[in-house]
Amino acid sequence: MALWGGRFSQGSDVRFKAFNDSLPFDYRLAEQDIVGSVAWSQALQKAGVLTVEEQQNLQQALEQLLLEVQQDPNQILQSDAEDIHSWVEGKLIDKVGDLGKKLHTGRSRNDQVATDLKLWCKEQGEEIYAALVKLQEALVNLAAREQSTVLPGYTHLQRAQPLTFGHWCLAYVEMFDRDLSRVKDALHRMDRCPLGSGALAGTAYPIDRDELAQSLGFRSATLNSLDAVSDRDHVLELLFSASTSMLHLSRMAEDLIFYNSGEAGFIELDDAVTSGSSLMPQKKNPDALELIRGKTGRVIGSLSALMVTIKALPMAYNKDMQEDKEGLFDAVDTWLACLDMASLCLQDLKVNQDATLKAAQQGHSNATELADYLVAKGLPFREAHHVVGEAVVAAIEKNKALEEFELADLKQFSDLIDEDVFEHLTIEACLAKREVLGGTSRASVESALNGKSQFETQQ
Ligand code: ARG
Repeated sequence: MALWGGRFSQGSDVRFKAFNDSLPFDYRLAEQDIVGSVAWSQALQKAGVLTVEEQQNLQQALEQLLLEVQQDPNQILQSDAEDIHSWVEGKLIDKVGDLGKKLHTGRSRNDQVATDLKLWCKEQGEEIYAALVKLQEALVNLAAREQSTVLPGYTHLQRAQPLTFGHWCLAYVEMFDRDLSRVKDALHRMDRCPLGSGALAGTAYPIDRDELAQSLGFRSATLNSLDAVSDRDHVLELLFSASTSMLHLSRMAEDLIFYNSGEAGFIELDDAVTSGSSLMPQKKNPDALELIRGKTGRVIGSLSALMVTIKALPMAYNKDMQEDKEGLFDAVDTWLACLDMASLCLQDLKVNQDATLKAAQQGHSNATELADYLVAKGLPFREAHHVVGEAVVAAIEKNKALEEFELADLKQFSDLIDEDVFEHLTIEACLAKREVLGGTSRASVESALNGKSQFETQQ
């Protein structure tokens, strides 16, 4: 059933219809559309448009339709309705006859689709929230397990200073904490209901919009009808939250891919999240992590696509806005799948503590310690930095670690160096010194871990 036949003397071209229809993707809004329709029928009854009996009949039929949709969502796709709104209305008319035609009084698909999509975003927000918390739990568990494991820390992919593996895990916990806070923020801002805004100017019926909003679980109603039907900030904000979170996931995946490489050998991913090569029998590839890294592109793509779509749209609703859904659905599905896959990858990951320790011992990552040692003996830091730079050049030439020099050799770089230097050059000393809040010392990581174990986000 087309919703708008009266003005037209001929039907749509089949190619136009296929081009215009959104049912093939907005069928995913069926439940929200039905729930929104029930609330609208109640608001119409309170406004005196429907009798109590009419409203009850409509509600009963809509609730039955909801059950049918939940049992067999695929039936929707058999229909040639233009979109989910016409599908629901058509089904309602099939069930209750002409009474069904009263439901759309004072409502437009413009405020309807805006409401449906917000309801969908709100529901997904909760799922994303749970998936982010689950991933944080996986990271905290790994951090607790590998709390004291030494890990070489890098800048510019050059060995920089030693870390603990637990510290690396908790860095990502912080990132996902900010993602949680972004989702929470977005959910708060989108929590206003557009229903009752009509096509663009507000409905002509005396609807108590705040009551309607609350009946649908919103905090309140939107305040301007033009804005309400043309606003897609909630979609953009969710896409931005998804994109940022995917960046975090992708960076984590990249770290782990590197750690898992034959060259580093710091970790071994479980068989369950890796796959083999069809040609090379020795291969065990980190496909799950590569796909997380790879899928990040399409999520960011959905964000930029919608930004560009919205950019020059005149007030108020334009059909361009129908393009908001596929990217959003895909981005949220992808995000949820990647969060889940990341949790799975962390679950049975094995850390090769010998390899991480060995790597941390190489690359002169205790050079800063030697400089700090000289500072403690009274040398200004800039000079100490220079002296140690010379020592590192000599160490590289002799293919030695700094602590492998004899005291006499070290003294050639500075008289201030004494026998006690060696205790400062151990990895343990490097770690222990970084006891500042947020540092990598075992004590700092321990207290960070204690703070995280309740999974309370700090925002
Ligand atoms: N399918 C449309 C969308 O997704 C629904 C709103 C249509 N409104 C209209 N006036 N044509 O945006």
